[in-house]
Amino acid sequence: MTEEGEGQAGRCPVRVQELPPEEEARLVTLGFKGYTGLVRTQPGGMLMKARYKEMAPRFYNFDFRPDDIVVMTYPKCGTTWMQEILWGMTHLDELDEADRLAISNRTYFIDSDALYRLEDQIKDRYVMERFRSLCPDGRPEQGIILQSCRAQPPHLTKPRIIKTHFPLSLYRPDLLDRCRVVYVCRNPKDACVSYHHHCRLINTYRFEGSFEAFTKSFMAGDVFYGRFWDHVAPAWERRRHPHVHFVFYEDLQRHGLQQLHKLGRFLGLQLSREQLEMVAKHASFPQMKARDARVPMVLSSSTNGAVGGFFRKGITGDWSNVASAELDALMEEWVQEHAEPLGIRFKYAPCE
Ligand code: A3P
Repeated sequence: MTEEGEGQAGRCPVRVQELPPEEEARLVTLGFKGYTGLVRTQPGGMLMKARYKEMAPRFYNFDFRPDDIVVMTYPKCGTTWMQEILWGMTHLDELDEADRLAISNRTYFIDSDALYRLEDQIKDRYVMERFRSLCPDGRPEQGIILQSCRAQPPHLTKPRIIKTHFPLSLYRPDLLDRCRVVYVCRNPKDACVSYHHHCRLINTYRFEGSFEAFTKSFMAGDVFYGRFWDHVAPAWERRRHPHVHFVFYEDLQRHGLQQLHKLGRFLGLQLSREQLEMVAKHASFPQMKARDARVPMVLSSSTNGAVGGFFRKGITGDWSNVASAELDALMEEWVQEHAEPLGIRFKYAPCE
């Protein structure tokens, strides 16, 4: 079925098609127990919950502001880390606030309105407090995070930090002319390991199959947000646009301060070395993990604590600890086939 969204939320050329029941059944058999009621988009080939279908025009036409900072990533590539870095850079005088509010409530993960069930969103006290205070007349079914984000008073507050895993192709083409986008990319092998953990952790996905089955689905794009390359390639191609800052997770790890300096310049912030060091410490893995234990992120209530937490290892190269030689050969061939034409050389070791 095709949807062409018109009306209040504007024109939307994204086509959203329900996944055939036999395809859903195949994915459930592979171990994706939470994969029910799914849709696929064109363009983007993105796999998403059916709620996306009615919401697509609201995302496509979202009213980005000139001072917005959008963090765009394929899942598990360092999104939360970048959110904390950006928030730190723009809130140097109030870093303590991070001990009161989780990063998910200091920024806006707009996809939540398509990804999560409304019933689960409503259960989250902080999400609802922000929604009720920013949108006293808001209607939850029209998108709690989208409306909250839209209602943040312009000019009076700091820039909005907006997180999305939706690829560029699911937004209006002038997105990059309207605001700045920080795109974080990670080598797909470690992203896959991290995504496997995430899908076991979060009940929305509830993955109970093998690592091998997960990896093959990841390569085929049969995971939420679709194929890695469909996400990375359009951003990589626009990496020289003055409003795009394309950064690799591995470089952030290896050359932290240098990368933060570049990021600060991109954002037009004049940050001293001392301030950059403060931000690096504030957004370090140990600090973020410890903070999450005290002030958990949104939807941690819907996680399977038995498999661990969100802040897993935060390292480069974990793939080599978990993948068999056969799986590595398969993945390597896939990476070369796609990365070479783009001219991307991924780093897989902590100090390569
Ligand atoms: P691992 O599962 O490999 O540990 P995202 O935020 O895009 O979902 O990415 C999550 C991944 O980033 C997880 O990877 C997580 O541990 C890692 N991560 C989060 N904060 C980090 C930090 N401050 N430094 C390094 N890695 C971090």
